[in-house]
Amino acid sequence: MLVKTYCAAVNGLDVNTVTCEVSMSRGVQFHLTGLADTAVKESYDRIKAALVNNGLKMPSMDITINLAPADIKKEGSGYDLPLAIGILAANGKVESEHLEQYMLVGELGLDGKLQPIRGALPIAIRARKEKFKGLIVPQQNIREAAVVNNLEVYGMETLMDVVHFFNGTTTYEPTIIDTRREFYEQQNQYELDFSDVRGQESVKRALEVAAAGGHNLIMIGPPGSGKSMLAKRLPSILPPLSLAESLETTQIHSVAGKISRDTSLISQRPFRAPHHTISQVALVGGGNNPQPGEISLAHNGVLFLDEMPELSRAVLEVLRQPLEDRKITISRAKYNVEYPSSFMLIASMNPCPCGYYGDPTHNCVCTPGQIQRYMNKISGPLLDRIDIHCEIQAVPFSELSQMQPGEPSATIRERVIRARKIQEERFKNFKGIHCNAMMTEKMLHQYAEPDTASLDMLRMAMEKLKLSARAYSRILKVARTIADLEGSENVLSQHIAEAIGYRNLDRGDWAERGI
Ligand SMILES: Nc1ncnc2c1ncn2[C@@H]1O[C@H](COP(=O)(O)OP(=O)(O)OP(=O)(O)O)[C@@H](O)[C@H]1O
Ligand SMILES: [Mg+2]
Ligand SMILES: [Zn+2]
Repeated sequence: MLVKTYCAAVNGLDVNTVTCEVSMSRGVQFHLTGLADTAVKESYDRIKAALVNNGLKMPSMDITINLAPADIKKEGSGYDLPLAIGILAANGKVESEHLEQYMLVGELGLDGKLQPIRGALPIAIRARKEKFKGLIVPQQNIREAAVVNNLEVYGMETLMDVVHFFNGTTTYEPTIIDTRREFYEQQNQYELDFSDVRGQESVKRALEVAAAGGHNLIMIGPPGSGKSMLAKRLPSILPPLSLAESLETTQIHSVAGKISRDTSLISQRPFRAPHHTISQVALVGGGNNPQPGEISLAHNGVLFLDEMPELSRAVLEVLRQPLEDRKITISRAKYNVEYPSSFMLIASMNPCPCGYYGDPTHNCVCTPGQIQRYMNKISGPLLDRIDIHCEIQAVPFSELSQMQPGEPSATIRERVIRARKIQEERFKNFKGIHCNAMMTEKMLHQYAEPDTASLDMLRMAMEKLKLSARAYSRILKVARTIADLEGSENVLSQHIAEAIGYRNLDRGDWAERGI
């Protein structure tokens, strides 16, 4: 007898429907065809154990299984469930009448429990597109899959639940979650708020400008000055995640297997802070079955690289392409996988190897040469993609307790949203450009050209401060954002002046400046 069940192959964010064809005849062999990887080949043993432990057994016949279409790579262990159900149906133990209406995914434990799989959300999206009536997933993936409307999604605990479901011996209800309502409820509930940060007005201002224009930013300051504290609060002043953005980000987290059991849609902008010992693959993605890296998990949110010069040179260099393209392509011999990676980079570094160069309360023990070498670890091309550099000093502990709480994130966010609206209007005819940070050189001339007097001032300042040539367009971009925050149509000299102040690392004299 020939039986077909349906499941899904996940490659990157692409999902394809896979048909498992199971056929049985007299004999004792097991054949699996159709470009399956080792994990799929190991299915046989898991299925056998799961059947035995549930009072069933593997039919002692020739079983031929074909996974079609044959040219799509099939990886992972999500095929256990559709294969097991296919075998049971071919053997007459499961009613096959309704099998074609459902997509099935799930890994089997040896006891027959269903283990979670990766990519439940993109699989559910595919199932609806292919007009399946329903999707059966392991219980742990149910909230993720239930994001999709107009599809009956069932979360099942064990193989036997699925057997009973198709045989009609037990009735199960599809899970319905009002994910959109939850999404909008949780959207603005950030645990960390800028009001916790006392003082540090100029750094907060720099972060506000960065948020308003989508600019990357680096903070330079001694240990304990609050760099991590400030960075973690950035998502709370960015414009709220839209439903469309959330779907993109949630799918990436789903494919990475990082959606917790009680989450459906990710409702807040992600904040990813990998340690500086992170490998290239973990940062940008990769591996055998290419998984998204931190830059893609940070999609539509913030990637925080603490102690940036401590990252290896090679790791820093691979960041350049995704910073530019806002996506990453991972190439394999026979196929490519692409993940979006549009994130705001927030980096931090000490001003010197010992950490205390320029700190009024500690002595720096580094030589100018050591300091320069440390600064040089961040290469020109990478620095070129960071529009805002700001220095930060620690607020003395004695003063902290007497200071008033800072401005709340919600108030800052309102200003950011207003500035973003102006940018949306400005770039409405440019596909893929949403904020000032994305402007091309040509657009800079059109939208951020200062008047002659401001230009003269900019030239003079560049000479006097020994700013490098690359600083020029960065300054104009940031000045455009500062003007937008003020609601000013033109870029004026005060906007340029503030933007010049954000180019500390472009100055040729960092190590002799004696800040
Ligand atoms: N301006 C401030 N307002 C309130 N608390 C602060 C402030 N600055 C520092 N702190 C306190 O000091 C702690 C240390 O700050 P944080 O870890 O952010 O510093 P850091 O610059 O990241 O240091 P490191 O270089 O060691 O990582 C914070 O968790 C916070 O409790
Ligand atoms: Mg820190
Ligand atoms: Zn030092």
